[in-house]
Amino acid sequence: MQKILVTGALGQIGVELIDALRKTYGKNHVIASDLRADAENAYGPYEQLDVLDTQKLTEVIKEHKITRIYHLAALLSAVGEHHPLKAWDVNMTGTLNVYEAARHHGVESVFVPSSIGAFGASTPLDQTPQDTIQRPSTMYGITKVAGELLGDYYANKFGLDCRGLRFPGLISYLAPPGGGTTDYAVEIFHYAVKGQPYTCYLRPDTSLDMMYMPDALQACIQLMEAPADQLIHRNAFNVTAMQFTPEQLTAEIQKHVPDFTINYEVDPIRQSIADSWPNSMDDSAARQEWGWSPEYDLSKMVAEMLKHLR
Ligand code: NAD
Ligand code: SER
Repeated sequence: MQKILVTGALGQIGVELIDALRKTYGKNHVIASDLRADAENAYGPYEQLDVLDTQKLTEVIKEHKITRIYHLAALLSAVGEHHPLKAWDVNMTGTLNVYEAARHHGVESVFVPSSIGAFGASTPLDQTPQDTIQRPSTMYGITKVAGELLGDYYANKFGLDCRGLRFPGLISYLAPPGGGTTDYAVEIFHYAVKGQPYTCYLRPDTSLDMMYMPDALQACIQLMEAPADQLIHRNAFNVTAMQFTPEQLTAEIQKHVPDFTINYEVDPIRQSIADSWPNSMDDSAARQEWGWSPEYDLSKMVAEMLKHLR
């Protein structure tokens, strides 16, 4: 049975992933970790762990006999543009630390998420292929491309089973998003259920890939359980579930909350990031190699989000 460490486990993905992993592998087989000392919402084994602290990272891996790591600790795109050097440290040095500790201390497999942020304006933005130009303009994107390459390097050079997904914007109701460009697609629901108008920082016609959290959790677990000989890419798979603009999302919410209104105050930093990201990704490699098949489209996701937040 796997013994799993999750870094950055108190973030938007982590709080839900630890629960999904514990249902699959057992409560005591999943060690949550994050910067905070207190961790009421870890609901099980928890370690305070900064991924820049290599000594503690090694201790935790050894003490719990970790065999698999889900490395989620990172700074997201918008925060990363405000703190580029910190984003480099956490996203790059942190990932390198995890790979190094893993290969030296008996870990067999590591999951590191990449992102639509690994693409840039020179990438084909419609039906973005799995293998294509990657020249991102953000520090976040730079660290994501380098993280993808590091995963391939540690797999080829050291035989570590490094896998990962290029997630689109993730939509969920449990933990707030951590400062990304796609956060509007979560925030908007909180305003809609309170009966308040929402001010969106992106233009109404900005199309981005998105996914509802249950599909993202399923993808994290399914990819890591896929037989290695089935995988041609192994790492950095494009995965997506839906594409929409703020105005299309608003129209879908208005089917349930007819009085809901949106207005726009464009933030030039986040708008330019969004403009450089795909309008839609081609995720056929994930579908073919390990059976990726999302359950939630725009209308199903909106109905679920409103139900849970109410
Ligand atoms: P988040 O910002 O919600 O959570 C990140 C967590 O990492 C936080 O709890 C934070 O405390 C922790 N952290 C930060 N610095 C740390 C450090 N030095 N050591 C240990 N922990 C640290 O992020 P998330 O949305 O859960 O994203 C997790 C991963 O998924 C990231 O790699 C992110 O790039 C990727 N991703 C997320 C999305 C999304 O829409 N949420 C989309 C694509 C990719
Ligand atoms: N949701 C993430 C962000 O906007 C995508 O990686 O930063």
